[in-house]
Amino acid sequence: MAEPALENLYREGRAFPPPAEFVADALVNDEAVYSQAEKDPEAWWASHAERLRWMRKWDTVLEWAPPHARWFLGGQLNVSDNCLDRHVDSGHGDQVAYHWEGEPGDARSLTYAELRDEVCRFANALRELGVAKGDRVNIYLPMIPELPVAMLACARIGAIHSVVFAGFSSQSLVDRITDADSKVVITADGAYRKGSVVPLKENADKAMEATDNVSICIVVRRTGEDVAMTDGRDHWYHDVVEGRSTECAPEPMDAEDVLYILYTSGTTGTPKGIVHTTGGYLTQVSATHRLVFDLKPDRDVYWCAADIGWVTGHSYIVYGPLANRATSVLYEGAPDHPARDRFWEVVEKYGVTILYTAPTAIRAFMKWGPELPAGHDLSTLRLLGSVGEPINPEAWMWYAEHIGGGRCPVVDTWWQTETGAIMITPLPGVTAAKPGSAMRAFPGVKAVVVDEGGEPVPPGGGGYLTLQRPYPSMLRTLWGDDQRYRDTYWSRFGDDVYFAGDGAKLDEDGHIWLLGRIDDVMNVSGHRISTTEVESALVDHPKVAEAAVTGRRDDLTGQAIVAYVSLKGDLEGDDALARELREHVADRIGKLARPANVLFTEDLPKTRSGKIMRRLLKDIAEGRELGDVTTLANADIVSAIQASAGDSAKEE
Ligand code: WTA
Repeated sequence: MAEPALENLYREGRAFPPPAEFVADALVNDEAVYSQAEKDPEAWWASHAERLRWMRKWDTVLEWAPPHARWFLGGQLNVSDNCLDRHVDSGHGDQVAYHWEGEPGDARSLTYAELRDEVCRFANALRELGVAKGDRVNIYLPMIPELPVAMLACARIGAIHSVVFAGFSSQSLVDRITDADSKVVITADGAYRKGSVVPLKENADKAMEATDNVSICIVVRRTGEDVAMTDGRDHWYHDVVEGRSTECAPEPMDAEDVLYILYTSGTTGTPKGIVHTTGGYLTQVSATHRLVFDLKPDRDVYWCAADIGWVTGHSYIVYGPLANRATSVLYEGAPDHPARDRFWEVVEKYGVTILYTAPTAIRAFMKWGPELPAGHDLSTLRLLGSVGEPINPEAWMWYAEHIGGGRCPVVDTWWQTETGAIMITPLPGVTAAKPGSAMRAFPGVKAVVVDEGGEPVPPGGGGYLTLQRPYPSMLRTLWGDDQRYRDTYWSRFGDDVYFAGDGAKLDEDGHIWLLGRIDDVMNVSGHRISTTEVESALVDHPKVAEAAVTGRRDDLTGQAIVAYVSLKGDLEGDDALARELREHVADRIGKLARPANVLFTEDLPKTRSGKIMRRLLKDIAEGRELGDVTTLANADIVSAIQASAGDSAKEE
């Protein structure tokens, strides 16, 4: 822990007087920005939309027919034109867009002009192959430059991309191909993962065989694996872009045309296809990226260390930074490969000034010790960000001191795949920052913590986090399932109140502290995984009769997955079966969903109505005192589970 004195300085926001040259141009270091935005939110967002290049200006800023919002109606623009051509046209073609750092240590820098040309070549290739506006395109790629290129090429021709995290299994890809009825898959031969190679193309092949949707597959050569190429369907990326023109007229898109779908875990088994559109999304990701990170495009080197497979990467590696003409680091590897100071090596190599990462990474750095960052020159850093899960005050302070050298503001940013952009955050140089608090809603955003009855709680109170006013980057619907959109987000407190699924409390100053999810969604290393999703994967195994899954607190990953499994007939569980089940889940969903613990039990605790008592299982998993369990139909099972919880088949 830090000196209390220092902590107090952080609390008051005084530890970070922003250097004069970094005071954001739009934010004049005071509260005015909040009151202005509050007075006229539509005008506030419109002022940010005006910074973009529109092919046709909008007629109406907002049309709000709860729970459906439409922004910048009548306006037309193209996202790839805004992210690339606009900057080349203004004379910044030679500025580096991405410093790409590959896992094996290979590197490549792409300027805005080079990125534009590459995107145009690939966009032309896609058009030539028959991909048209509105078509869905699955992108299943590692963190290589071709990933943003593919996204931007889709955006250029108006195709809708659906990126699937390269750590997901082929089954996850099948689900996403089928739900979005996509006919195109863009993948790579393989992906590096801490020195070994993940057979991406093989996974993609399995997925494509399992559906008959896909007629076009484009393969980037990354690892040099021998891969099977199916005639007529599969094409090498380098072949299709070869000799293509670097001119490709950007498709004029309506502000409300769909830009992308990104699937996220819900409380039921099937992932939800979150739909983001064009004008409002780009407006809010660029506004938040510029203001929250106080971006100075001419001198900052910005690094968001997320994976583009998640929303953080969509909004803050691709669309926000490029719209703002940032120079970014694009990093393929892991934080601990080949060594645990890899991040600091990268910060030093590129002179990174802004770093945006997740609490789970920060806690790993803490565990590995301050000597590792101390061995590198991190003096270029001037701002640090955190996202993905609640950050504990200790980790916040450690980040501020050992990475930020006590001089960098830390912005803890709360948002979701659904919100598309940052919603709750301190603003550097404007608000105070308290270790562990996301502080307050971004200007123009109305975040309200309410009680059971939907009434706002006073300072000092706690409850459900809601969003009570539309904002430009909000999800528009769920792909193909508008009823589920209404039911999931807009039914708890009425159809004009979005319930985010998170609990939060307000401190005495009214600042917001996130408490994590209150639904059956777990947060493992900042990734949303639903309990039902893992349960369905488990019961899909031939030996499993029933399974209940819960998250338990974990110092490193935020939450770890605990699976309670009862087996069919007289089968007995052992370490080998536990391992098999963990692999089975990894196979069905992806490695990140693999349970940390598998607990075999004869029966699961249920209420008289037959509902599995998840809260109880969670209490057991976290080793808490148990409350009254007499309502259990099978009360004795609890002590049996408790007894075995001590020696469960645990992974380390
Ligand atoms: C959690 C990731 C506390 C939260 C951008 C939310 C956070 C879910 C924070 C969304 C934060 C994200 N503090 N919790 N700063 N940021 N969360 O869709 O539970 O992958 O609902 O989007 O992550 O996860 P998603």
